[in-house]
Amino acid sequence: MKKLMAANWKMYKTRAEAKATAEDLLTKIEGKLPADREVVIAAPYTALETVGSVLAGNADCHLSAENLYPKAEGAFTGEISPAMLKDVGCVYSLAGHSERRAIIGETDELVGDKVAFGLENGLSMILCIGETIDERKAGEVQKVIDEQLEAGLKNVASDFAPETVVVAYEPVWAIGTGEVAGEGEIVEAHGFVREKLKKLFPEKANEIRILYGGSVKPANCAQIIALDNVDGVLVGGASLDAESFSQIALA
Ligand code: G3P
Repeated sequence: MKKLMAANWKMYKTRAEAKATAEDLLTKIEGKLPADREVVIAAPYTALETVGSVLAGNADCHLSAENLYPKAEGAFTGEISPAMLKDVGCVYSLAGHSERRAIIGETDELVGDKVAFGLENGLSMILCIGETIDERKAGEVQKVIDEQLEAGLKNVASDFAPETVVVAYEPVWAIGTGEVAGEGEIVEAHGFVREKLKKLFPEKANEIRILYGGSVKPANCAQIIALDNVDGVLVGGASLDAESFSQIALA
């Protein structure tokens, strides 16, 4: 199972900026990426084709969307289908990032529909989950993880390939704050995720990759990915710069 070192560029980078960063990243990791690592770049819709061209043919670095709509086509103004994402080279898509849940109002149900439809249409899906600080203070971390996994994976066909389903645990209070979760908090939460996955998919749970996201930096990445049930990272701010993200990918 390859560790997944993923970038989430969110709403940053023009096509020219995205091309330059992707090319610089490939140059910095070429010949150095361990065989057990996979790099993913989740880019804005407008930059997908450009970054897809840079990554084309690269066996170790793959393109991801940050979102998708769970319909094949139709009158869904402003939305993008899995087929359109594959058409520009996407291998993955994120679903359910906390910013979309909080800002756009995405529900657990819609997130679950996105994960299932993306898988059905040939994308590997990265399901983002995580508690808010209020939920953590209320002792509801496991409850939130259970609920978001239950809903996010509810319609996944039982014959899915385990490498095509990825869970990203991103405590909301650690995203963009510089306040990375403590090792104990990460081990506990990833343990809850693995435990729930074993209930949902007993035969495949151990092969589903669980990423940590939330203030991952070059200085903390090596310790984080060495923890139990941490199979990679999902990085926001530190992935925007090719040098820092190359250090994370190689950590
Ligand atoms: O999806 C990854 C992102 O939410 C983490 O952001 O800036 O804390 O690395 P950041």
